Amino acid sequence: MSTLRVLKIDNPEDKKILKTKCRPVTMAGRELRRLIADMFETMNKAEGVGLAAPQIGLPIALTVIEIPPPTEKQDDGTEIEVGPSTRYVLVNPKIVQASNDEVMRQEGCLSLPGWYGEVPRRSWVTVEYTDENGKQRRLRKADGLLGWAIQHEVDHLNGVLFTERMRDPSTLKKIDDEQAAEELAKKA
Ligand code: CO
Repeated sequence: MSTLRVLKIDNPEDKKILKTKCRPVTMAGRELRRLIADMFETMNKAEGVGLAAPQIGLPIALTVIEIPPPTEKQDDGTEIEVGPSTRYVLVNPKIVQASNDEVMRQEGCLSLPGWYGEVPRRSWVTVEYTDENGKQRRLRKADGLLGWAIQHEVDHLNGVLFTERMRDPSTLKKIDDEQAAEELAKKA
Protein backbone atom coordinates (compact mmCIF):
# COMPACT_ATOMS: atom_id res chain seq x y z
CA MET A 1 0.00 0.00 0.00
CA SER A 2 1.08 3.56 -0.45
CA THR A 3 0.01 6.99 0.66
CA LEU A 4 -1.00 9.29 -2.17
CA ARG A 5 -0.73 13.06 -2.44
CA VAL A 6 -4.01 14.85 -1.68
CA LEU A 7 -4.76 17.61 -4.18
CA LYS A 8 -5.33 21.12 -2.80
CA ILE A 9 -7.89 23.70 -3.82
CA ASP A 10 -5.36 26.56 -3.66
CA ASN A 11 -3.10 24.89 -6.27
CA PRO A 12 -4.36 25.92 -9.75
CA GLU A 13 -3.39 22.62 -11.43
CA ASP A 14 -5.00 20.60 -8.62
CA LYS A 15 -8.12 22.75 -8.68
CA LYS A 16 -8.68 21.94 -12.37
CA ILE A 17 -8.96 18.26 -11.47
CA LEU A 18 -11.01 18.92 -8.32
CA LYS A 19 -13.49 20.92 -10.43
CA THR A 20 -13.88 18.16 -13.05
CA LYS A 21 -17.07 16.13 -13.23
CA CYS A 22 -15.87 12.55 -12.79
CA ARG A 23 -16.37 9.81 -15.37
CA PRO A 24 -17.76 6.40 -14.36
CA VAL A 25 -15.34 3.83 -12.94
CA THR A 26 -14.41 1.09 -15.41
CA MET A 27 -11.48 -0.29 -13.38
CA ALA A 28 -12.14 -3.62 -11.62
CA GLY A 29 -10.52 -6.53 -9.81
CA ARG A 30 -7.06 -6.28 -8.34
CA GLU A 31 -6.31 -2.87 -9.85
CA LEU A 32 -9.43 -1.40 -8.23
CA ARG A 33 -8.77 -3.09 -4.87
CA ARG A 34 -5.23 -1.73 -4.78
CA LEU A 35 -6.45 1.79 -5.47
CA ILE A 36 -9.10 1.48 -2.75
CA ALA A 37 -6.50 0.27 -0.22
CA ASP A 38 -4.27 3.26 -1.07
CA MET A 39 -7.23 5.63 -0.69
CA PHE A 40 -8.09 4.27 2.78
CA GLU A 41 -4.46 4.56 3.83
CA THR A 42 -4.24 8.14 2.52
CA MET A 43 -7.53 9.08 4.20
CA ASN A 44 -6.54 7.52 7.55
CA LYS A 45 -3.16 9.26 7.55
CA ALA A 46 -4.88 12.60 6.96
CA GLU A 47 -7.45 11.75 9.69
CA GLY A 48 -10.40 12.22 7.35
CA VAL A 49 -13.70 10.33 7.31
CA GLY A 50 -13.93 10.29 3.51
CA LEU A 51 -11.83 10.65 0.37
CA ALA A 52 -12.91 10.94 -3.25
CA ALA A 53 -10.78 9.76 -6.20
CA PRO A 54 -10.44 13.27 -7.71
CA GLN A 55 -8.73 14.32 -4.46
CA ILE A 56 -5.83 12.02 -5.39
CA GLY A 57 -5.84 13.16 -9.01
CA LEU A 58 -8.15 10.58 -10.58
CA PRO A 59 -11.38 12.04 -12.05
CA ILE A 60 -13.38 8.81 -11.65
CA ALA A 61 -16.57 8.27 -9.62
CA LEU A 62 -15.06 6.42 -6.67
CA THR A 63 -15.09 7.36 -3.00
CA VAL A 64 -14.23 5.73 0.31
CA ILE A 65 -15.75 6.57 3.70
CA GLU A 66 -14.82 5.36 7.19
CA ILE A 67 -17.11 6.17 10.08
CA PRO A 68 -15.20 6.13 13.40
CA PRO A 69 -16.15 3.63 16.10
CA PRO A 70 -19.15 4.48 18.28
CA THR A 71 -18.16 5.64 21.75
CA GLU A 72 -19.80 5.74 25.15
CA LYS A 73 -19.08 7.95 28.11
CA GLN A 74 -17.87 6.03 31.13
CA ASP A 75 -18.64 6.89 34.77
CA ASP A 76 -15.34 8.76 35.11
CA GLY A 77 -16.26 10.95 32.13
CA THR A 78 -13.81 9.43 29.65
CA GLU A 79 -14.98 8.04 26.31
CA ILE A 80 -14.58 4.39 25.35
CA GLU A 81 -14.95 2.81 21.89
CA VAL A 82 -17.80 0.31 21.92
CA GLY A 83 -17.61 -1.08 18.38
CA PRO A 84 -15.62 -1.19 15.17
CA SER A 85 -15.34 1.57 12.59
CA THR A 86 -17.42 1.04 9.45
CA ARG A 87 -15.92 1.28 5.97
CA TYR A 88 -17.81 1.99 2.77
CA VAL A 89 -16.57 1.85 -0.82
CA LEU A 90 -18.90 3.63 -3.22
CA VAL A 91 -18.32 3.03 -6.93
CA ASN A 92 -20.45 5.20 -9.24
CA PRO A 93 -22.70 6.42 -6.39
CA LYS A 94 -25.97 8.16 -7.13
CA ILE A 95 -28.16 9.93 -4.56
CA VAL A 96 -31.66 8.74 -5.48
CA GLN A 97 -33.62 10.31 -2.63
CA ALA A 98 -33.05 13.01 -0.03
CA SER A 99 -34.94 14.48 2.91
CA ASN A 100 -36.69 17.79 2.43
CA ASP A 101 -35.26 19.25 5.60
CA GLU A 102 -31.71 20.49 6.06
CA VAL A 103 -29.18 20.48 8.85
CA MET A 104 -26.31 22.93 9.26
CA ARG A 105 -22.96 21.32 9.96
CA GLN A 106 -19.38 22.45 10.37
CA GLU A 107 -17.37 20.85 7.57
CA GLY A 108 -13.77 20.56 6.60
CA CYS A 109 -12.08 19.09 3.54
CA LEU A 110 -8.73 17.35 3.09
CA SER A 111 -8.25 19.47 -0.04
CA LEU A 112 -8.56 22.68 2.01
CA PRO A 113 -6.57 21.88 5.16
CA GLY A 114 -7.29 23.89 8.28
CA TRP A 115 -10.42 25.61 6.96
CA TYR A 116 -13.89 24.94 8.33
CA GLY A 117 -17.30 26.41 7.59
CA GLU A 118 -21.04 25.97 8.02
CA VAL A 119 -22.68 23.99 5.22
CA PRO A 120 -26.38 23.14 4.83
CA ARG A 121 -26.99 19.46 4.03
CA ARG A 122 -30.02 17.22 3.70
CA SER A 123 -30.64 15.43 7.00
CA TRP A 124 -30.64 12.06 5.19
CA VAL A 125 -29.99 10.65 1.72
CA THR A 126 -30.57 7.32 -0.01
CA VAL A 127 -27.67 6.36 -2.27
CA GLU A 128 -27.29 3.61 -4.88
CA TYR A 129 -23.81 2.40 -5.80
CA THR A 130 -21.65 -0.58 -6.70
CA ASP A 131 -19.32 -1.98 -4.03
CA GLU A 132 -15.69 -3.06 -4.56
CA ASN A 133 -16.85 -6.56 -5.57
CA GLY A 134 -19.17 -5.28 -8.28
CA LYS A 135 -22.32 -5.84 -6.24
CA GLN A 136 -25.17 -3.35 -6.61
CA ARG A 137 -26.13 -1.79 -3.28
CA ARG A 138 -28.48 0.74 -1.77
CA LEU A 139 -27.99 2.60 1.52
CA ARG A 140 -31.40 3.76 2.65
CA LYS A 141 -31.86 7.02 4.57
CA ALA A 142 -28.24 7.41 5.63
CA ASP A 143 -28.12 10.19 8.23
CA GLY A 144 -25.74 11.67 10.78
CA LEU A 145 -22.04 11.55 9.95
CA LEU A 146 -22.54 8.94 7.20
CA GLY A 147 -25.28 10.94 5.47
CA TRP A 148 -23.13 14.02 5.62
CA ALA A 149 -20.00 12.24 4.31
CA ILE A 150 -21.93 10.76 1.37
CA GLN A 151 -23.15 14.21 0.35
CA HIS A 152 -19.67 15.75 0.69
CA GLU A 153 -18.08 12.94 -1.37
CA VAL A 154 -20.73 12.81 -4.10
CA ASP A 155 -20.24 16.57 -4.44
CA HIS A 156 -16.50 15.95 -5.01
CA LEU A 157 -17.40 13.52 -7.83
CA ASN A 158 -19.40 16.32 -9.45
CA GLY A 159 -16.57 18.83 -9.03
CA VAL A 160 -18.34 20.68 -6.20
CA LEU A 161 -16.42 21.80 -3.11
CA PHE A 162 -17.97 22.47 0.32
CA THR A 163 -17.09 26.15 0.14
CA GLU A 164 -19.46 26.45 -2.84
CA ARG A 165 -22.31 25.02 -0.74
CA MET A 166 -21.89 27.53 2.07
CA ARG A 167 -24.68 30.06 2.44
CA ASP A 168 -22.76 32.36 4.73
CA PRO A 169 -19.12 32.70 3.54
CA SER A 170 -18.26 34.60 6.74
CA THR A 171 -18.50 31.31 8.69
CA LEU A 172 -15.41 30.02 6.85
CA LYS A 173 -12.51 30.15 9.27
CA LYS A 174 -8.99 28.85 9.62
CA ILE A 175 -8.27 26.70 12.66
CA ASP A 176 -4.63 25.75 13.04
CA ASP A 177 -5.00 23.90 16.34
CA GLU A 178 -5.70 20.31 15.24
CA GLN A 179 -7.32 19.35 18.53
CA ALA A 180 -9.73 22.29 18.34
CA ALA A 181 -10.49 21.48 14.70
CA GLU A 182 -11.22 17.83 15.55
CA GLU A 183 -13.71 18.93 18.19
CA LEU A 184 -15.38 21.34 15.81
CA ALA A 185 -15.83 19.24 12.68
CA LYS A 186 -14.92 16.23 10.58
CA LYS A 187 -13.06 16.60 7.29
CA ALA A 188 -13.42 14.51 4.15
CO1 CO B 1 -13.58 17.10 0.75
